[in-house]
Amino acid sequence: MSRKKEKIVIFDTTLRDGEQSPGASLNISEKVEIARELARLNVDVIEAGFPVSSPAQFEAVQRIADEVETTIAALARAKEVDIKAAADALRNTPHKRIHTFSSTSDYHILGKFGDDRYGKTLAEKRQTILKMSVDAVQYAKTFCDDVEFSAEDAGRTDIGYLADVVQAAIEAGATTVNIPDTTGYTLPWEFAAKIEELFKRVKNIDQTVISVHCHNDLGLAVANSLAAVQAGARQVEVTVNGIGERAGNASLEEFVMILNVRKDILPFFTDVNTREIYNASRMVSSFTGFPVQPNKAIVGKNAFAHESGIHQDGMLKSRSTYEIMKPEDVGVHRSKIILGRHSGRHGLKVRLKELGYHLSEDELNKTYQAFLKLADKKKEVYDEDLRFLMGDEIRGEEGFFKLEYLNVSIGTDAIPKATVRLMKQGKTVEKSAEGDGPVDAVFNAIDQALDMKYSIEDYQVRSVTSGRTAMGEVHVTVRNGTMEAHGRGVSTDIIEASGKAYLQAVNMIVQKKNELLKQGA
Ligand code: KIV
Ligand code: ZN
Repeated sequence: MSRKKEKIVIFDTTLRDGEQSPGASLNISEKVEIARELARLNVDVIEAGFPVSSPAQFEAVQRIADEVETTIAALARAKEVDIKAAADALRNTPHKRIHTFSSTSDYHILGKFGDDRYGKTLAEKRQTILKMSVDAVQYAKTFCDDVEFSAEDAGRTDIGYLADVVQAAIEAGATTVNIPDTTGYTLPWEFAAKIEELFKRVKNIDQTVISVHCHNDLGLAVANSLAAVQAGARQVEVTVNGIGERAGNASLEEFVMILNVRKDILPFFTDVNTREIYNASRMVSSFTGFPVQPNKAIVGKNAFAHESGIHQDGMLKSRSTYEIMKPEDVGVHRSKIILGRHSGRHGLKVRLKELGYHLSEDELNKTYQAFLKLADKKKEVYDEDLRFLMGDEIRGEEGFFKLEYLNVSIGTDAIPKATVRLMKQGKTVEKSAEGDGPVDAVFNAIDQALDMKYSIEDYQVRSVTSGRTAMGEVHVTVRNGTMEAHGRGVSTDIIEASGKAYLQAVNMIVQKKNELLKQGA
């Protein structure tokens, strides 16, 4: 007799924990575009950000809440100011969740709450934090019914104290209680035992949904999430491509496809539309600038490639010899539509829509111009080129400097010289400079145009599509005083890609400085 399958709620935190990955910087329109893609993936909850942390975070959460119909969560520490900011950002959506958290492990309590005003002894500090957690949940409940509470570093928290905090949070009204393995420290059976123990000790546990949020420091995030589900958790927090703090979070595509492929023995399901997985993966990769490793499960370039003769032969005879899921099930299509110089705006729009990008008329106009320039250089424009194009400067924020024009002269006996023309809100500025090489000359010319000096902390170039006219992608991290930012640029010309990447990073620093000025004002 077949057991009835139980639904696992998919809580996606790509835009919050994922965006906390070192080096990931998404602008607001990229976040909205990813949120729309997550809605097409049909995740249950989208955690859109941490509104109190900056005006840009606030605006991103607000725009996503206004424009996307899925339940939108916003993060808040157990502080009134944070919870109020989360509630304000979510004001216009009826589908909102406030997600508040406190630290519960002794490591965190002693590290973050060392001050005597939280109590002199560990026992006193624990009581203070329990009370702060209850107050936070109760305050959040004044704004919406759907409130999630997380016990940060639950993986390393004493089980007796954890059970007390969980019980108190449920009494205060938490509709979901999340048990994070914040440091990715636990082993699957150990984590499962912790969840089972909570089910035994917490008397009101049936009044909430138990969630888990596993980090990947030991490569166990997905295994721990799965073990927790076996032990009774019914919400899993994940990110696309597994991005997130340090080594990342549990990967959405891996967790979802495990339940899907092993439905023969796993009595669970999710509502995720798996055919949208590949689009989501590529969009997140191109907007964050984090490449997907070729051997990454489910979405890596080689995930469905069969190299050895024996494997290829087996596949030709029967696909099930070496394939446990079909590429089409996760949205990988083998037939490639090629666009070129003669493709029209409509053809481009339709293809982009199929790849998950929904553009306004204005965005389409800009994209089409960029596409035509690329088609002139490349002749054949593949899906991967389009995805990189979408992650490029056409997504640039209003009010940012754009690279209008670039000219570089080099020669075996000449000093490299670059001229750049930058444009911002109709105003242009043009400067020339020399450098140690063509890239250095471009960076110097941009510095002169902006009358600032930035140091280069990291610079990387790689080819992202194939052939002689391959697109080159440049990543650069720049610093000005204590501020650091990362930029990414793509072009068939790596000097131009370098200029774009540098300018994007510089724009981020200018934006951060303006935000700080506004906050101080
Ligand atoms: O890792 C963690 O503990 C978190 C919480 C804020 C849920 O990200
Ligand atoms: Zn986390």
